[in-house]
Amino acid sequence: MKVPYNDLLDQHTPILPQINTAIQSVLSSSQFIGNDGNPFVQKFESAFAAFARAQHCIGCSNGTEAIELVLRALDIGPGDEVIVPAQTWISTAEAVSHAGAQPVFADIDPKTYTLDPADLPKRLTSRTKAIIPVHLYGLPADMDPILAFAQQHSLKIIEDCAQAHGARYKDRPVGTMGEAGTFSFYPGKNLGAIGEAGGIVTQSDELKEILRCLRDHGRSANFNHSREGRNGRLDGIQAAVLGIKLKYLPLWTEQRQSLGAYYREKLGEIDTIFQSTPSDRTHVYHVFSSQFENRDALRAHLSENDIQTGVHYPIALPFLDAYSKFGYDQSDYPFAHAQMSKALSLPLFPNMTREQLDHVVECIARYPNK
Ligand SMILES: Cc1ncc(COP(=O)(O)O)c(C=O)c1O
Repeated sequence: MKVPYNDLLDQHTPILPQINTAIQSVLSSSQFIGNDGNPFVQKFESAFAAFARAQHCIGCSNGTEAIELVLRALDIGPGDEVIVPAQTWISTAEAVSHAGAQPVFADIDPKTYTLDPADLPKRLTSRTKAIIPVHLYGLPADMDPILAFAQQHSLKIIEDCAQAHGARYKDRPVGTMGEAGTFSFYPGKNLGAIGEAGGIVTQSDELKEILRCLRDHGRSANFNHSREGRNGRLDGIQAAVLGIKLKYLPLWTEQRQSLGAYYREKLGEIDTIFQSTPSDRTHVYHVFSSQFENRDALRAHLSENDIQTGVHYPIALPFLDAYSKFGYDQSDYPFAHAQMSKALSLPLFPNMTREQLDHVVECIARYPNK
C-alpha cells in the first residue's frame, strides 16, 4: 500500500469545479493584483479574519513576507534583536535579518518542541525588541509565560502561525495573542493556495493601516507614497482559491485531529515518543512529529514499504551554514540539537485512510531497534 506524505491532488479533486469557477471569475474581471480595492482579496481577508477570530486580516505574498512586514510595521530593524525558536523553518529567522535586525535563537521545550519560555532570560539583551513564538507543527507555543516575559521587558510578540491555522491556546485563537499573527498559505499548509500566498491577522486598527500601506509599496492616496514599502501583495487568483478552500478547512482540521489522535493511540501502544500536547492546547496537526533513535534506518525501511516521511528539521537553525557566523555549538541549544538526528514526520493529510495509517504503524512496530 502506498502512503504519500501528503496528497494535494486528492484534496483538490472533489472541489475542482469550484476552484475552476473561482479562477475563471478572476480571469474575467482581470483583478489580478491585490491592491486595496481588489474584491477577491477583500472577500478572502474578511473571511479569514472571521475564521481566525481576529479584527483584521491583511493578505500578502507569502508567510515569510508576512513576518517581515510586521517587523517593519513595528519599526524593528538595524540594531535590534528578535528572539526566535532554534527549531523552526528558516523563514522565522530570515525575515528578522531581512528587516535589518538580528535573530537570536532560544532553545525548544524537549516535550512540545515549541519555544521554551524558561530559555528566554538567557537570550535577552538590551537590544531585544520582540519575540516570535512559532506554533510548530500545528501546536501552539506556551503563550502565557511568553506573553508575561514580553510584558515585563516591553517586548513585542509576533506569532508565527504558518503551521497552525485554527489552533487554540487556552481557547484563544493563535494570531490574536500578540501584536499580530502571520500565516503562510504555501500549498502544503493546512490552508494552502495554488502558489505562493500569506496573510497577517491583527487586532490593531493602526497596525492594519500600516501593513496595508507597506505591502503595497508604501502607497498612499493620490499617487503618493508615505514611505518605502514592499511588493508584498496577495494576488487575486490565490485569494479566490483560498476563499473556496477556507470553507473546507474546519472539516480538514477535524480529519487531521482524528488521524492525530489515532496515531497517538497506536504509537502509544508501541512506546514511541511524539510531540506532547498539553490539554489546554488544540493541535491542528500540520505535521505529526515523532522521535526515533535510529531515525534514518527506520525512514529507509518505511520508504521500502512505500511510505513517505519527512524530517522537520534535519538541521536546527543555529547550526545552519547561514548562521555559522554566530559560532554556536551543541551545548548552546541541547534540545534543538537532540531533535536533529531523531525527528521523523509521519504522513498525515485530511483524506488519509485508517488503513494507510495502520500500515504506517505496523511497519514501525515490525521494525527492530527503532
Ligand atoms: C514556521 C514557518 N514560518 C514561516 C514560513 C514561511 O512561509 P512561506 O513559505 O509562505 O514564505 C513557513 C513555511 O514553510 C513556516 O513553516
